Amino acid sequence: MLIQSIKGRNMELQPRRATVLPFTPEIARSTGQLYARVAHVVPEVEWAVHASYIDAINRLKRVKNAVILAHNYMTPEIFHCVADFVGDSLQLAREAAKTDADVIVQAGVHFMAETSKILSPDKTVLIPDLKAGCSLAASITGADVRLLQQKYPGLPVVTYVNTSAEVKAESDVCCTSSNAVAVVEDIAREHSVDTVIMVPDEYLAQNVAKLTPVKIITWKGHCEVHERFTAADIRAYREGNPGVVVLAHPECPPEVVAEADFAGSTSAMIGYVDKRRPARVVLVTECSMSDNVAVEFPDVEFVRPCNLCPHMKQIALPKILHSLQTMTHEVTVEAATAARAKAAVERMLAVGAPRQRAAA
Ligand code: 13P
Ligand code: SF4
Repeated sequence: MLIQSIKGRNMELQPRRATVLPFTPEIARSTGQLYARVAHVVPEVEWAVHASYIDAINRLKRVKNAVILAHNYMTPEIFHCVADFVGDSLQLAREAAKTDADVIVQAGVHFMAETSKILSPDKTVLIPDLKAGCSLAASITGADVRLLQQKYPGLPVVTYVNTSAEVKAESDVCCTSSNAVAVVEDIAREHSVDTVIMVPDEYLAQNVAKLTPVKIITWKGHCEVHERFTAADIRAYREGNPGVVVLAHPECPPEVVAEADFAGSTSAMIGYVDKRRPARVVLVTECSMSDNVAVEFPDVEFVRPCNLCPHMKQIALPKILHSLQTMTHEVTVEAATAARAKAAVERMLAVGAPRQRAAA
């Protein structure tokens, strides 16, 4: 029984066909520089498990002309050691649009891989685990959007990128948390309306509505990670950590954002730390963010309460290696849906152009 359950768990973390690779002195040498970079947040005992996968992935990427696009919520051994590009949803979408690699491995969740495929239809886009979903993407369908359009004729639909391709296809324009205000204002202007429909994140829409005169009709989707933070949590962080600067993601409920010093996308939070260098900071978001940012700013103290995203955490090094070895799981989007979704994503990309951070 015990052996069976341990085997079962290993299947989750380490797909059956991924070779278990030994940590040899040669691997220790070839990955030494990478370890020096993350030693602050990755214990030596864990590195002995990660290093051989990192070495194998980085070799195989070159053979297959593949790039790894990693979201800011990936764990540090992925984010800092195998990723070619890192960033928030918008930055990864921009990178997917311009890469000349043959293969994109999306170290993130399924909607991000779909966005990459929509923008790069000729490339092979892989997601290392099909279970990497998203509670926001699961909260709405294309049929739901069509019903909203019937209910509110003439109002444009702004769709958060955390949605399926079929939902994007029904939309006038997409947005991410880093460009939502600009996108809402732009589409309202273009349609000469004072109200837009914004789906599916109710809290993001409410937070955006506070920053623009445009009125917003929303949907009851929530991020299962950010909805769990409360205003009382923020007050407790301040009480327990005098002087702490609180940065929150706009997927948090508005009362949480109201208690924070700053709200912005994952990359906007990184930008804040980079520019302001607070002595002590708490990132009110997914757990891996603080680890990843702490690598770059060892002089900043990160207070670590956070919530894990179970979807992002499906992605692990053995699965990335397996993905490259077997070219699975390939993400495809039906051509007519992809064409309509692409128009909405490209409309978004035309609205704002934040800078791209390349992984070191
Ligand atoms: P960012 O676009 O701010 O990175 O966040 C989106 C998110 O929550 C990804 O799941
Ligand atoms: Fe979706 Fe929230 Fe996880 Fe992002 S953090 S992938 S929005 S569930």
